[in-house]
Amino acid sequence: MAEVEIKKGLVGVIADETKVSEVMPDINSLTYRGYAVQDLAEACVFEEVAYLLLNGELPSKSQLAKFQEEERSNREISSNLKKIIQSYPNNAHPMDTTRTSVSHLGLEDSEASTNTIEANYKKFIRIFAKTPTAVAANFRTRKGLDIIDPKKDLSFSENFFHMCFGKVPSKDVVKAFDVSLILYAEHSFNASTFTSRVIASTLADIHSAIVGGISALKGPLHGGANEAVMEMFLEIKEPENAEKYILNKIKNKDLIIGFGHRVYKKGDSRVPTMTKYYYKTAEFYKNEKFPKISRILEQTMIKEKNIFPNLDFPSGPTYYLMGFDVNFFTPIFVMSRITGWSAHVNEQLKDNRLIRPLSKYTGSGHRKVLLIDKR
Ligand SMILES: CC(C)(COP(=O)(O)OP(=O)(O)OC[C@H]1O[C@@H](n2cnc3c(N)ncnc32)[C@H](O)[C@@H]1OP(=O)(O)O)[C@@H](O)C(=O)NCCC(=O)NCCS
Repeated sequence: MAEVEIKKGLVGVIADETKVSEVMPDINSLTYRGYAVQDLAEACVFEEVAYLLLNGELPSKSQLAKFQEEERSNREISSNLKKIIQSYPNNAHPMDTTRTSVSHLGLEDSEASTNTIEANYKKFIRIFAKTPTAVAANFRTRKGLDIIDPKKDLSFSENFFHMCFGKVPSKDVVKAFDVSLILYAEHSFNASTFTSRVIASTLADIHSAIVGGISALKGPLHGGANEAVMEMFLEIKEPENAEKYILNKIKNKDLIIGFGHRVYKKGDSRVPTMTKYYYKTAEFYKNEKFPKISRILEQTMIKEKNIFPNLDFPSGPTYYLMGFDVNFFTPIFVMSRITGWSAHVNEQLKDNRLIRPLSKYTGSGHRKVLLIDKR
């Protein structure tokens, strides 16, 4: 093969067009369908943003009411899936159980292999509505608690708190959670979304595409980072340890999770909004320690390395303060990113071409096969 430039990690490669979201690293901006995420986070509830991603426009009041009714009436999971969730090993990572639960939803879906835009829309609603129920059921069963069924009179975020804890926290805490879901919902051709699009491009079903997205999101270089950030905070323990901890990591050339981004090199536009709601949540729970640790880590990383925090940096401690177990942070990210993945699956299918890149072969030259007793 003639000499070719290999873009390791596909850095800088534009693989296709998209109308779902735009990442503008030079001005630290992210828009969903043309709207700045920070404006959506302040003005909308998560369901409005889910509708926007899927349909291309923000809903009117009646469109939102219809969408919410569809979502709320599809929240229940089957008794079969509940039994399966109760049988998951307690030491299984919740990202693995979430992946298995969503895969099981596909087994039970009567339209599983119908790949039309209409069927995919209905399947999206079912996956979107049922995944939080499955995640919350796993959250409770691994603590030996009964599963709490969803309630139709609660919003998407309120209902998730209800299913996990049996109660809904204050409006401010629910808003902070809603904001995190809005900011996590979509991010153009990131690793998990690209995985979902690759799967969709083979004309496999939407459940397969979402399960693939969940698998890619699990890694600590992607969604798993919000869990790793919290592990770091718990290791640091007190603000007075924070600077020494981070300087030591920098000296050892360790990767510091929650910092850096493939696209944003001068800061992540979602971070100021999430940080505002993180600090509000910390104030509500009367926690001064985590924001202090955050400020020290952030200032030191920018001063020493000129590397900025990403969204996982403020979202990790926010979820912890709300009472979620650390290993459930990425499944919460899944509940949100299902919207972006589905929008991309639809977009892929509207103008599909099988995604199949090439590779440069660097293995051994042509060899003769020796029979086994001659090797
Ligand atoms: C997100 C990430 C994978 C982006 O990687 P990337 O675009 O390939 O960035 P690079 O690896 O080219 O980084 C450039 C330099 O910054 C350093 N760097 C980047 N992120 C760093 C981090 N979090 N901690 C320490 N150093 C970091 C790299 O080591 C590299 O240094 P070098 O030039 O001396 O080798 C990377 O920043 C990272 O691993 N961050 C931690 C994981 C994380 O928070 N992920 C969530 C992403 S939303």
